[in-house]
Amino acid sequence: MIIVTGATGQLGRGVTEELLKRLPAEQIGVSVRDTDKARDLAGRGVRVRQAEFSDPASLSRAFEGATQVLIVSVGTLGQEGLKLHRNAIEAAREAGARRLLYSSHMAVSPHSLFPPMWTHAATEELLRTSGMPYTALRNGFYANSAAWLLGPAFQTGEVSGPQDGPVSWTTHADLAEAAAVILADEGQFDGPTPTLTSSQALDLAQLGELLADLTGRPSRRVTVPDEQYRAGMVAAGLPEMRIDISVGLFAASRRGEFAATDPALGALLGREPTAMREVLAGVLAAR
Ligand SMILES: NC(=O)c1ccc[n+]([C@@H]2O[C@H](COP(=O)([O-])OP(=O)(O)OC[C@H]3O[C@@H](n4cnc5c(N)ncnc54)[C@H](OP(=O)(O)O)[C@@H]3O)[C@@H](O)[C@H]2O)c1
Repeated sequence: MIIVTGATGQLGRGVTEELLKRLPAEQIGVSVRDTDKARDLAGRGVRVRQAEFSDPASLSRAFEGATQVLIVSVGTLGQEGLKLHRNAIEAAREAGARRLLYSSHMAVSPHSLFPPMWTHAATEELLRTSGMPYTALRNGFYANSAAWLLGPAFQTGEVSGPQDGPVSWTTHADLAEAAAVILADEGQFDGPTPTLTSSQALDLAQLGELLADLTGRPSRRVTVPDEQYRAGMVAAGLPEMRIDISVGLFAASRRGEFAATDPALGALLGREPTAMREVLAGVLAAR
């Protein structure tokens, strides 16, 4: 049985749906915090069990009988997030799983300028030293973050923020499908996967141009100094870690941390990964 955690979240839900296309439902289990949100999956024959990463006993129950466990990283960062991931790794080992998969990131590094990468790096280190066969999915930057960064540009054409760099924006749907392909063909990647990204890295000015092309409204890129951007968030009362993440995203992208592209995702999908033009057109259509 393949267990997917976080199946009430975007990535985990997508992976579960893609597994259902490839495997009988009785070979799929999900570990979720709120089973009510996964009632439809239970109705389709998926085993649904409740677990919270801070409660090892609940993880043991949810992972019972697992051959592989996909640990979808939790949003919690730092030592707390690492502790939650450690609990999940230990529970998978105790359940006798043959292989662990983990939703890591293309820019994983303890030296990244983007703080979430430190937790991914520490978790990959836990996996490496666990002695268990594992696959770290080096996922590209979520494309929906680009839509969020563009924000008001959908109405005004103005793209405002600190100087950035190119990012190989990748959709949840493509990453979920790739994860399901890897789970269904157990062991094709041992350790970190190649970087799983779309085919093109685009910066905010280029995204603005794409948007202009789709809307017919001219695009204008306004660059704000990092410190001015930070001061705006401080004045808005945002928590320090949230601010560090936002500022760090721009600094890391300027340094090229998210610029790599790789054909591996396309090879897994058997088609071109979704391009940002399509993503932005979808956002516009939904507005
Ligand atoms: N590649 C990227 O660019 C990128 C960007 C942002 C985040 N990420 C990482 O990728 C992960 C998955 O992305 P996503 O979009 O699917 O996020 P999401 O929709 O927020 O899903 C996260 C899932 O983790 C579950 N979860 C959180 N804390 C938990 C805990 N303590 N115990 C058990 N389950 C817990 C959530 O449960 P509930 O459904 O009950 O809330 C949710 O199902 C994120 O959590 C984050 O670590 C990657």
